[in-house]
Amino acid sequence: MAYGQFEQFIRNLTRVMASVNTKLQRDLTMRSRVSRRFSMTEAAEFLGVDATYLTKLSGDEAHFPEGERSGRQRTFSPDEIMLIRAIVASNPNAKRPYLHWRKPGEKLKVVTFGAQKGGTGKSLSAAHFAQYLNLFYGMRVGVIDADPQATASLYFADENLPLFQSDTPTMADFMGVDDPAAPKLNERSAEELNGLWQHTPWPGVRLIPGGANIQNGDISLFMMSRQGQVPVYRILKDAIARWDAGFGPRMEPADFRAADGSLDMEAYRKALVETVDVIVIDQQPSLTLVQLNGLIAADNVVIPQTMKGFDLATLSTYVANIEEYLEFILSFEPDIEIGRGEHVVLPTIVQEQNDQDTDQILDLYRRSPREILQVWYSRSDAIANASEEYKSIYEYLPPATRRTSAKAFMRNANAVNDALVQRIWPELPKRDFADEFIKERWS
Ligand SMILES: Nc1ncnc2c1ncn2[C@@H]1O[C@H](COP(=O)(O)OP(=O)(O)OP(=O)(O)O)[C@@H](O)[C@H]1O
Ligand SMILES: [Mg+2]
Repeated sequence: MAYGQFEQFIRNLTRVMASVNTKLQRDLTMRSRVSRRFSMTEAAEFLGVDATYLTKLSGDEAHFPEGERSGRQRTFSPDEIMLIRAIVASNPNAKRPYLHWRKPGEKLKVVTFGAQKGGTGKSLSAAHFAQYLNLFYGMRVGVIDADPQATASLYFADENLPLFQSDTPTMADFMGVDDPAAPKLNERSAEELNGLWQHTPWPGVRLIPGGANIQNGDISLFMMSRQGQVPVYRILKDAIARWDAGFGPRMEPADFRAADGSLDMEAYRKALVETVDVIVIDQQPSLTLVQLNGLIAADNVVIPQTMKGFDLATLSTYVANIEEYLEFILSFEPDIEIGRGEHVVLPTIVQEQNDQDTDQILDLYRRSPREILQVWYSRSDAIANASEEYKSIYEYLPPATRRTSAKAFMRNANAVNDALVQRIWPELPKRDFADEFIKERWS
């Protein structure tokens, strides 16, 4: 009987998998997490200042990090770059803001990366975006991994982060839908919600990891939708608002200078983790109720999408299904505010050797210039290698043979992220990365 054999197969596989050590490979990845360091010149580029200015500051400011010395070079970790940024930003003579933090009372933005198609680079794009905001703007980022596969989490986890343990809370806990047997929604307080964020090796970046438990969320939401007790599409949106009301921004860079003008390290460390400036959600490739919550919570939706004909067909069904959901939601909650910001399709894994992909982008762009980003992710061998170890291009240390392609892909990532920043925060100072990309590709 086919069913019996399948059951036997699953049982055998469960037994085998329990004895396989999948932890070893993971541990190796996590121990070398963010091992990449950056030169003074690169640090200056992140901040948008002159390297000579940083060198001068390193003499004047007692808390300026030593970094590591190799030969005549000094190199810095992302943590040290954030500290340098804090020193520059809190300087009473600073001419412009260097820490692009939310001011007290300012709204928390949510940016969701989602698509129906699997393997289009959603997780990588979301991870790159979060890290870019951290490196280039000093933003404190909350990453919510909405995928039971937990791909995005792997880009942030280190050995201190309890991934793939059944009791590690996921967004299902954050939403209060972690127990399908519970009679009603478990609305956690702001304090309880705050405890669900895990710290990552990136300064000020916190994570709600993905995990199998997210699937319980869908079962719970399904039950609730049948009982009609709560609007099941806005539970994440409401949970984020509840957390933000208790843990919004309070401090500003000026607050971490002591009376004598020296940097108050304790105040700086506290400010770094008091809130986040943006939440980035990485979706699973589907439109379940949990994923719908990720879309309804978003101010901005980014759809990373490969450009082959069949892949684009999944984009059509994805947006058609979202449209139906939206019509349904708006029919009985006409005042709900959904997606107030800009939304874009981000072309990914574009093969530039032949014209097929780029012709497709051009065609879409002509039809709908607001909806298609002019900057795309090209297909890259360097990132294929990096992501085998779950490393983003911002932390990958390429072997000598791949240094050029890794550098090219970092430029590519910068261009994509710069273009996204311009759409999502038009008020922020932009960089030249996106303009350069557009000049090179579109002229
Ligand atoms: N620009 C690129 N060039 C080459 N390979 C890429 C590129 N972007 C992503 N990839 C590869 O494609 C695979 C899928 O990437 P990623 O996990 O980010 O996609 P995803 O859309 O999140 O997938 P899923 O649908 O499973 O969540 C990864 O192995 C990654 O290395
Ligand atoms: Mg993914």
